[in-house]
Amino acid sequence: MSAERIDGKAYALGLRGRIATLAADFTARTGRKAGLAVVLVGEDAASQVYVRSKGKATVEAGMASFEHRLPADAGEAELLALIGALNADPAVDGILVQLPLPAHLDEQTVISTISPDKDVDGFHVTNAGRLAVGQPGFVPCTPLGCVMLLKDRLGSLSGMDAVVIGRSNIVGKPMAQLLLAESCTVTIAHSRTRDLADVVRRADIVVAAVGRPEMVKGDWIKPGATVIDVGINRVDAAEPGKTRLVGDVDFGEACAVAGAITPVPGGVGPMTIAVLLRNALVAAFRNAGMALPAEAI
Ligand code: GUN
Repeated sequence: MSAERIDGKAYALGLRGRIATLAADFTARTGRKAGLAVVLVGEDAASQVYVRSKGKATVEAGMASFEHRLPADAGEAELLALIGALNADPAVDGILVQLPLPAHLDEQTVISTISPDKDVDGFHVTNAGRLAVGQPGFVPCTPLGCVMLLKDRLGSLSGMDAVVIGRSNIVGKPMAQLLLAESCTVTIAHSRTRDLADVVRRADIVVAAVGRPEMVKGDWIKPGATVIDVGINRVDAAEPGKTRLVGDVDFGEACAVAGAITPVPGGVGPMTIAVLLRNALVAAFRNAGMALPAEAI
């Protein structure tokens, strides 16, 4: 038996289509486009690629993209002043500061300067708190995308045993909160977890977000479980001088045991940008005082 592939690329494409329709509706009703500002500090190569694709996807969805680049040695005051100006700008509905920041800048200070109502990354403590107590806010894009894929495949997640491997603020912790809100029994495993394989083997749903290539082995997976692989790791390919992308799960092994699994690439990755656009559109509707039916996207 081979696990069903969960096609995040196809789901993300459909989501982006629905967002574009709603973005056009927003523009028709308000006379302006929903706006997303992306701030990049420094020259990090991967971040430059991400920021470019975020800007392109924003424009493709019929929204306005505002890109701001600061040099790697930009001071904290300069960055905070830029965020302050974006907070005050009525054309900007969502603000994203690309991480990681250069080492001399404190990420928490920077994130806490973004208005929580424009924090489309959902990283501000106010939004983390809203998620924890079940109030409407912004939820980090990658875990929200994972829940969308899970619900699309499984329907109700109620009562299921879910194991999240990884406890980052960006993925692991919000992922656990979202699964709890779906009435899963949630375990958060991490680098100090004892008998990790045994813990994972109990799970109906496994979410791997540790950043270690192919760490989760096939015999850790309960037969028929649904596996969501958040990892994107570049490793050497068989051919000399070439690299390839792998997840945190040993895909070949897991396929023989799991019921369904997200591939890398083409699984969770494409969902992150699609959900960012979703969050930006939700921000625009909220900022304009207009209702957006939650089930629409
Ligand atoms: N760097 C890697 N992923 C992300 C993300 O989702 N948001 C931001 N702001 N930076 C990132």
